Amino acid sequence: MEEISIAIDGPAAAGKSTVAKIVAKRLTYVYIDTGAMYRGLTLKALNKQISLEDEQQLAALLADTDIELVQGENGQRVMIDKDDVTRSIRSDEVTNNVSFVAKHPSIRKEMVKRQQILAEKSGVVMDGRDIGTHVLPEAEIKIFLIATVEERAKRRYEENIQKGFPADLEKLKKEIKQRDLIDSKREAAPLTKADDAIEIDTTALTIDEVAELILNEAAKVI
Ligand code: C5P
Repeated sequence: MEEISIAIDGPAAAGKSTVAKIVAKRLTYVYIDTGAMYRGLTLKALNKQISLEDEQQLAALLADTDIELVQGENGQRVMIDKDDVTRSIRSDEVTNNVSFVAKHPSIRKEMVKRQQILAEKSGVVMDGRDIGTHVLPEAEIKIFLIATVEERAKRRYEENIQKGFPADLEKLKKEIKQRDLIDSKREAAPLTKADDAIEIDTTALTIDEVAELILNEAAKVI
């Protein structure tokens, strides 16, 4: 059976990673969370108190940073310089700062290069903001997931409660809007739907329904 690449893009908290993991598991493909890579660099920069506006220093930091996405039994672990940062990259501080790091062109250039290497062996489901437009422009399947900001904030709220993280619905809504705004307005590879992507509004759909829609699209070309 031919193996393909599946690109899943969309705004913050649209359900991309949850759906991408299900699709990857069903197809026995590798799941690659590109947001985790930007988050990992942001965590390291914050720890080192590097200004997130200082593109040169951030680029030097990235050149000196090893980022590994390890597929384990309990999902993907994120390793920065061999340290497991899977949990710490989801903190509020990282979430609310990552878009400032991700807007720098030289950071994006290097991240895209690393992501393309990770996707070299086909049979991947990759999620992010610029996968269909820049990282895997030749992907056989491109999906753009959207949902209302209210629904996305509600999902993130429930997820945070479940994980034991603090949660405030109104604050989450504001943060999601702010992150979307920076990601969509940046000059370098802004969040945008590829011309040939299929848009799925997940507001009224369950995770399994969204996964099924994507698997049906995949079945047409595999
Ligand atoms: O997907 P996630 O919400 O973890 O991504 C965190 C942030 O990383 C995004 O808000 C965006 O600023 C950046 N990102 C990006 N390009 C990607 C993946 C993530 O700019 N391919």
